[in-house]
Amino acid sequence: MTSPTPTALAPLLRAMPKAELHIHIEGSLEPELIFALARRNGVALPHAGVEALRAAYAFTDLQSFLDIYYAGASVLLQEQDFFDMAWAYFERAAADNVVHAELFFDPQTHTERGVPMATVLNGLHRACLQAQSRLGISASLILCFLRHLSEEAALQTLEQALPWRHLFIGVGLDSSERGHPPEKFARVFARCRDLGLHLVAHAGEEGPPAYIESALDVLRVERIDHGVRCTESPALVQRLAAAQVPLTVCPLSNLKLRVVPSLADHNLKALLDAGLCATVNSDDPAYFGGYINENFVQIFSALPALTRQDAYTLARNSFKASFAPPAAKQAWMQRLDEVFAAA
Ligand code: ADE
Ligand code: ZN
Repeated sequence: MTSPTPTALAPLLRAMPKAELHIHIEGSLEPELIFALARRNGVALPHAGVEALRAAYAFTDLQSFLDIYYAGASVLLQEQDFFDMAWAYFERAAADNVVHAELFFDPQTHTERGVPMATVLNGLHRACLQAQSRLGISASLILCFLRHLSEEAALQTLEQALPWRHLFIGVGLDSSERGHPPEKFARVFARCRDLGLHLVAHAGEEGPPAYIESALDVLRVERIDHGVRCTESPALVQRLAAAQVPLTVCPLSNLKLRVVPSLADHNLKALLDAGLCATVNSDDPAYFGGYINENFVQIFSALPALTRQDAYTLARNSFKASFAPPAAKQAWMQRLDEVFAAA
């Protein structure tokens, strides 16, 4: 298959300020860092080296990815490991002109291995503080519950995290989607809502449009992560557009996990044309072949119908859909206008 002509919009896509709202920080662990941390912590890995590990990144669906992703996270043991992982992400995000990032983390992947919640949260939080002070990136954390585990386990995880409630702004729902509908987590999301946490959930990635509806109606989430299968239901598209529910779309993830057969088949243009508040994000960049700018450049190259106006809308949507304070959103949007006026 020939690759598409690179988009002429690439310099602008790279330069425009943007927010990243869908990044699993464990999915930013590059093979080199996995092996460095394994050595530091004396953890044995099934793959012989960096190249052998990269060669295993040939996914057939979400589950085939998750098996490797959880194995990669097994090298994270000390607070410094969590810091180093997040700091490596922030340096790449700064290079991509990300000015605000809301990072997902999966505490159960770590607490199940005996890593204390404090270790995870303190390491990630310290990296967020340094991102602000050294890179000018505003950063916050969203705690995700693993949907292949029970709601009871999610409730226990929430209780374990509550002493550090001030260190995260919201909760999400990730991991294996099919067979684990949002309503399985109705009680824990209701409790999080009472606590004043922001609410998001993965839905409509591999799962049906009905999962997007129950994430909205039962969990009462403010954003849908992925959500690309919404276009199978015109009524749902209308609803998402009318309510301006943000979708955090991840093109390279959708390609690598075979949600779409090729980027040319991706529905990002259709989502924008339908008036949805779509955003572009990287999901698990170390595993899917690129960080946020690579997602922008590759999807714009594969879909020549995407315009300069679409680029502006996507960047603007990323600020609009963020959980940042209104004054910060306003300032980033103004900076965005300046970059577009000058380009
Ligand atoms: N965890 C990390 N990446 C994920 C994805 N794309 N979908 C569901 N869970 C995930
Ligand atoms: Zn995701």
